[in-house]
Amino acid sequence: MCGIVAYTGPKKAYPILIKGLQRLEYRGYDSAGVALLNGDIRVYKRKGKVSELEDFAKDKNLSGSVGIGHTRWATHGKPDNINAHPHQSGDGNIVLVHNGIIENYAVLKEALSENGHTFKSETDTEVLVHLIEEIQNQYNNLPLEEVVRVALTKVIGAYAIVVIDKKDPDKIIAARRQSPLVIGIGEDEYYIASDATPIVEHTKHVVYLGDGEIASVEPKKELQIKTIDENETQIPAIQELDMKIEQLEKGGYDYFMLKEIHEQPKSIADCMRGRISAEDGWVLLGGVEEQAKKFAEAERIIIASCGTSWHAGLIAEYLIEDLARLPVEVEYASELRYRNPIITDKDIVLAISQSGETADTLAALQIAKEKGALIYGIVNAVGSSIARMTDAGSYIHAGPEIGVASTKAFTGQVTLLTLMALSLAKKRGTITDEYFQKLLVEIEKIPGKVEQVMKLNEQIEYIAGEIQHANNALYLGRGYNFPIALEGALKLKEISYIHAEGYPAAEMKHGPIALIDENMPVVVICTNKSAYEKIISNVQEVKARKGMVIAIVTEGDKEIKKIADYTIEIPDTEEPLTPLLSVIPLQLLSYHIAVMRECNVDQPRNLAKSVTVE
Ligand code: G6P
Repeated sequence: MCGIVAYTGPKKAYPILIKGLQRLEYRGYDSAGVALLNGDIRVYKRKGKVSELEDFAKDKNLSGSVGIGHTRWATHGKPDNINAHPHQSGDGNIVLVHNGIIENYAVLKEALSENGHTFKSETDTEVLVHLIEEIQNQYNNLPLEEVVRVALTKVIGAYAIVVIDKKDPDKIIAARRQSPLVIGIGEDEYYIASDATPIVEHTKHVVYLGDGEIASVEPKKELQIKTIDENETQIPAIQELDMKIEQLEKGGYDYFMLKEIHEQPKSIADCMRGRISAEDGWVLLGGVEEQAKKFAEAERIIIASCGTSWHAGLIAEYLIEDLARLPVEVEYASELRYRNPIITDKDIVLAISQSGETADTLAALQIAKEKGALIYGIVNAVGSSIARMTDAGSYIHAGPEIGVASTKAFTGQVTLLTLMALSLAKKRGTITDEYFQKLLVEIEKIPGKVEQVMKLNEQIEYIAGEIQHANNALYLGRGYNFPIALEGALKLKEISYIHAEGYPAAEMKHGPIALIDENMPVVVICTNKSAYEKIISNVQEVKARKGMVIAIVTEGDKEIKKIADYTIEIPDTEEPLTPLLSVIPLQLLSYHIAVMRECNVDQPRNLAKSVTVE
């Protein structure tokens, strides 16, 4: 969702901004723009892709070694050339890009209008730049950082902004509340971006701007950081980026999503590295050990997350209750934050998040923190806001995930949660030594088995061809595979725009069965050992109504093969581990269908990778 990039230093800013905006495309957007400062200020912005902005700007004056850029995901006002960022003050001197929502923009707009300000766009952002101009006019000679800071004290909402001013030409001001910003420190130069992806090719030294902080950068000068509300100077904590540029490239694959699907044997192994040894019979998560007392005393785990991460949370409910016998509640973070939940200091609240920046998850965590619960992050993006605000946590180490539809982050989350369930089960004495050992041995084999599933690609592509024209699809699963049915349906919706629903197989007869006819593909995950007979009955029920059944079964299955139209055989494993294998064919299925339907697999319409507004 909205991407910000900015540069000040000795180099030409425009190529850095464009490259940076391309790196940020994965976040999701519908217009793009840049502002360049070189004596004068020039703003170029376009609805559509960054490439359209490039086309538009190519014969314009692109000089300037200070500039700011933006990809906009529309909230206030439709995606068009006027609402696109950057936005300018009335006198045109101050230019700003913004990610977030200014909640009191209507009140501010009214007051500013009364003072003679006129607005060109429908955005909340334009109000903010006029507010900054107003403060500048009120307090003559105040430095830009102070003008912006004072303006922000009047703002309610979430924001990451960068601001430049023609009258202070080398300086960039950056500030954030809830939305992320990273500052890259180069040689006599600074980079600013929504995440590290546009920065990593220029410098590895970064400062993650803290919540409620404002920074001022100028080449050859020290980075200055203050708090917005208290105006207190902060000492910048410089960190080393652990990210390689190759991780941000497609590496020979047509799409990032396909690359990321294929990376899973490695990313799952990376998630387990150093945390488990079947040979020596242990599993250990640093964060859980650090908070051993809290985990020992916990009466309940509450999981807060969104989207695919919420599906990982549902699997965790099965895992932790089944293996560790600790009650688990899984909540949409967006609901938890507004429903006056009962949370106590005996609870542990787990936030599961790929980006570590999801606004609703952050807000839910804040509530949990205020209520005294231990907050624990299961996050992919290193240094992200959730990772920094939690009391403890575990990174999943999947590497940057660029495709909007989450794949390797999901299996990383499920792997990590499986390790957590095993570790808690062992500590709580709720698992037999034999079963514990068996699961350790089996989970270590998962990367190899995922590799085996990849070999089914051609068969899955064929099935994709058979169902690519469907308007609807139903995904059914039971137990550990019910959340996989939800996730399979979500993957299909997200990238191929086919309406799909995931359902617990037995619930089908309470509604979705009415939809089944010969045009309805029904994907059934039938690898369960415990409910196998019951799932056969569900498949029979679909077939009796002429539905087309695509069944994910365990290698060597005989019964379902007799009745399903297509069977995809995945390797056998212990039941709690099946989600890690059964999800892979569903990822590939939706990928192939989306490609066949000529959809933009990596950047599906309207979706954002990092949802930084509520
Ligand atoms: C967006 C993404 C999803 C993701 C969800 C939660 O909707 O497109 O892929 O699952 O946000 O994001 P998080 O970063 O918190 O896991």
